[in-house]
Amino acid sequence: MAFDIDRYTRQSEPVSWEDLDYSVFRENPLPPATLRTLRYMCEIEFHTVCYLRDMLVSPSRKDPQVGSFMSTWNWEEIWHGEALSHVLELHGITVKFDELKAKRVKLGWRDRISPVKQSMLSNIVGIDFVAVHMLWGSINERSTAAAYKRLASFDDSPVLTALLKRIAAQETKHIAFYTTQAQARLEDNPRAQKLARMALRTAWQPVGSGVSPESEVNHVMHHLFSGPEGRREIAAVDRYIATLPGMAGLTLLTSSLDERGVPA
Ligand SMILES: [Fe+2]
Ligand SMILES: [Fe+2]
Repeated sequence: MAFDIDRYTRQSEPVSWEDLDYSVFRENPLPPATLRTLRYMCEIEFHTVCYLRDMLVSPSRKDPQVGSFMSTWNWEEIWHGEALSHVLELHGITVKFDELKAKRVKLGWRDRISPVKQSMLSNIVGIDFVAVHMLWGSINERSTAAAYKRLASFDDSPVLTALLKRIAAQETKHIAFYTTQAQARLEDNPRAQKLARMALRTAWQPVGSGVSPESEVNHVMHHLFSGPEGRREIAAVDRYIATLPGMAGLTLLTSSLDERGVPA
């Protein structure tokens, strides 16, 4: 496989963010719409640990590569959350990891995926679950990276842009792992393809919906992906999904923007 998991886990470091000059926000605070989106992103990053927990009871845990990736991945995501929560804190918005964990609503991946689990219990062997998990992760990492890319392109603040680019660089590695895995596990495996397609069509929602209120999902979708530039970014993710084995014709992300009335 093209992804070197040993190298990834060995070289992983928390995203560096402390060297940036955040004092600029005193004179030029970030606009409210951006802070609202940042808060959403920060919460997603902190919630990663919940996905990890759910995955640890799935067949994915038995795969050594997936297991070691997920420990490092989770650790990196928490640091993304820490970096964003620092920026929010400077604007008087407190997002605490421990509090979030405590009050996390019970919805999310596990509940949305439960129909899939049901069908697996009846006739699907556990290993195909890993293919779905990897595909799901790949789509979510890609959408997250698209979100950071869009936010970094706004001229809110060079400091924020610098921070988001650093975070996005780590998301790129996450995309690479999940995609390599998904591709390999779906290839020549019609059963996994069918299961994955069904899971996506029935259960996929944008990252963060289920843990954040729908009003916030709506805000983020409109803020980041309205207009031709935003739509282009999202269409690129859809195009990528469609190239994976058995996924031709899916337009999950574009449809979720359409459903929320995000102007093209
Ligand atoms: Fe992240
Ligand atoms: Fe990530």
